[in-house]
Parts: sequence; structure tokens; C-alpha cells
Amino acid sequence: MIRFEQVTKRYPDGTTAVDGLSFEVAEGELVTLVGPSGCGKTTTMMMVNRLVEPTSGRVLVGGEDVAGLDPVRLRRRIGYVIQQVGLFPHRTVLDNTATVPALLGWKRARARARAAELLDLVGLDPKTYGPRYPRQLSGGQRQRVGVARALAADPEVLLMDEPFGAVDPVVREQLQDEFLRMRAAVRKTVLLVTHDIEEAVRLGDRIAVYGRGRIEQLDTPGAVLGSPATSYVAEFVGADRGLKRLSVTAVERGDLEQPPVARLDEPAERAAGRLRAEGARWAVVLDAAGDLHGWVGLDALAAGGSVGDLAHRMNAWVPVGAPLKQAFGVMLQHDAGWVAVLDGARFCGVLTPAKLHEALRRSVDADALGVPRGQVGFDSVADA
Ligand SMILES: Nc1ncnc2c1ncn2[C@@H]1O[C@H](COP(=O)(O)OP(=O)(O)OP(=O)(O)O)[C@@H](O)[C@H]1O
Ligand SMILES: [Mg+2]
Repeated sequence: MIRFEQVTKRYPDGTTAVDGLSFEVAEGELVTLVGPSGCGKTTTMMMVNRLVEPTSGRVLVGGEDVAGLDPVRLRRRIGYVIQQVGLFPHRTVLDNTATVPALLGWKRARARARAAELLDLVGLDPKTYGPRYPRQLSGGQRQRVGVARALAADPEVLLMDEPFGAVDPVVREQLQDEFLRMRAAVRKTVLLVTHDIEEAVRLGDRIAVYGRGRIEQLDTPGAVLGSPATSYVAEFVGADRGLKRLSVTAVERGDLEQPPVARLDEPAERAAGRLRAEGARWAVVLDAAGDLHGWVGLDALAAGGSVGDLAHRMNAWVPVGAPLKQAFGVMLQHDAGWVAVLDGARFCGVLTPAKLHEALRRSVDADALGVPRGQVGFDSVADA
């Protein structure tokens, strides 16, 4: 969808910002460009919409060399979130969001309806925020408007330059979450620039780690964190890359343990017998619908009555597909030795610290084999 072929950019003063770059972003894929300041990320991005022209090489969008396309029309096909947001200060939030549809000559009512829809999508109530001016918004809200504006004309391609850069870490994580949810709904080809490795691995299907003007490694987040290609990459991703891998590896059904299960309305004596037969000290307790209620210990069951009288409620759970980091966080928060894993309200099994460790090792091996994330078995080999 976006393709760089041997692209070099030398600025008139002799600075080589990009040096012989070749890579591709597939249709519907999100590639993050990550690297230190001044390594050529923005330059790379601006060659896609012809705000910067390559010195040599070609950039293709949808198979067409952009050098042969009218720059204005090209830019209307491409959503662009610029570094520092860049909203128009004298236009309302609604009109800012409707910028590109207006340029495309949409009828005013249609452009505004579209803008309202997009504001809603990025979590801003159009009634409240639409009439405001950018200075009446918080930094995080401004960044949301920047994303909404880029999406307004339903572009084929989205270029995002540090889209969540200007906000504190908490808001940034919130915006990232929203963006991931939105992206699941609106599948776009995205090139996203960041200097933050955490953001890069969180958002990218693949990440391109930049050195000076060139890509040092382009691979899935798990592979870059698990097996950095060069010492530069290893240093850039940091000594805690093992920990970072927790956020890019999902909890899967194959990772789970299946402890004995007791029903709320079951006689305690019968449940206790089953636990003893399985050599278990506790059971997960489900309600009549099979949804998670909590747990019960073997010792407590000796008191008799029904399981429901003796069970503890358990709130330590994560959905199937959640990142291991979330599961680990919930485990720590509840000071629990396991977390339940649910599909909707339905109980699937429990994740224990040992299983979590196994899952973490699996992610590296799968990525090294080029298996897509989320579709792998869990036989693990030694960590790289
Ligand atoms: N118009 C220009 N003329 C000369 N040099 C430029 C120009 N624009 C950028 N550069 C240089 O090209 C290099 C790459 O710049 P670029 O803006 O692409 O970096 P970046 O990776 O986006 O950095 P940051 O993370 O700070 O935004 C830098 O050394 C920069 O000084
Ligand atoms: Mg930049």
C-alpha cells in the first residue's frame, strides 16, 4: 500500500536525513517508525504526501509513484496528524474536524455531520466540544481532534507524526487505547511515528527501528523485543525488553490451567470429594450460567452446606486475548496467585505465574518463525 524503494533524502545544506530506505506497509497494516530525535522519521513520512520530495528513489501509494500525482489531490487521500497537532486556532473544533471534507467540496451539512461522527468516535461529545475553540481544550482533547480531523474524509492512508506526543503518560495511554479500539473498527493503512518504544510496540503490527536515516530492524514487536537484530536496536529497546514483551503477548486459551470447578448451588460435601480426588486445595466457583463467581478452599468446604455459603467472590480476571501485562497487573493488584480468564462472562481457565512465564517465552519463538500474533501454539524453546 505504501512502498519505499531505495529512497534517499538529502537536504540542500547537505544533511542526509534518509539514506537508501526500502520498506513496505501492507494494506490495513500499522507500521510504527521509532527512533531518536533527528533520525529522519518526519522526513520519511512527509515524502509519502509530498511535503518533502526524495532526492532519489521512489515512494508508491496504492501502487502509484507519488511523484506523478498532483500533490493537493494526493494529500486529500491521505489523513495526516502532524507533530504538535496543528489545529487552526480560529476555527471551532467541529470546523477543524471538517477541514478536509470542506476542501473536497462536500456540502456543509454533510461535512459537519461527518465531523460530528468522527468526534464521537474519538471520544469527544460533538455537542459539548464541537463549538469550542482549540484553546478551550486540554492537550489530550486537542490530540483527539487531530486524529478525528485526519480521519474525516475516510482516507486510504493515515500518516501520524507523534500523534500522542504532547500529553502526560496517563492520558497518552488512554489515547492509545482509544486509538486501538478505533482502529479495530476503521481498518486503515497507517504509518505512525514515535520516539517512544513503548508506544511503538503497543500500537504497531510491525515496528521499524530507525538509526541515522535508515532502518536497523523492521519486524513484529515481539521479534524486535525478543531478538534485536543489532546492538543498536538492543540498546534502543532497553534492558527491560523482556518486561516490555509482556504488553505485546496475549493471553490465549492454550496458556490456561483448568482447576477443579464447583457450582454455587452444589453441596459442599460433594465438591470437597471431587477436590480430594483430584488432589486439589481449591476450586473455581461458577454460577448456574457457568459465569465466574469466585473460589472456595478445600478446608472451608468441611463446614458443609452449599458451596455458595462458603465461596469467596473473586474479581481478579482478564478477558481472553488481554496482554500478559494486564494479567500480571491484576494478579499483583489482588495479591492473587492466579487470575481467571473469561470470554465474555464465561470462565475459560486460570492463568498462573508459571503459565504466564511459559506464554512469554512462546511469543518470541512464534515471532521468530513469522507466525502471526494471536495464532500460535505454546510449545516453547529456550529464550533468545
Ligand atoms: N528542511 C531541512 N533542511 C535541512 N535539514 C533538515 C530539514 N528538515 C530536517 N532536517 C534534518 O534532517 C534530519 C532528520 O529530520 P527529521 O525531522 O526527519 O527527524 P525526526 O526523526 O522526525 O526527529 P524528531 O523525533 O525530533 O521529530 C535532522 O538532522 C534534521 O535536522
Ligand atoms: Mg519528527
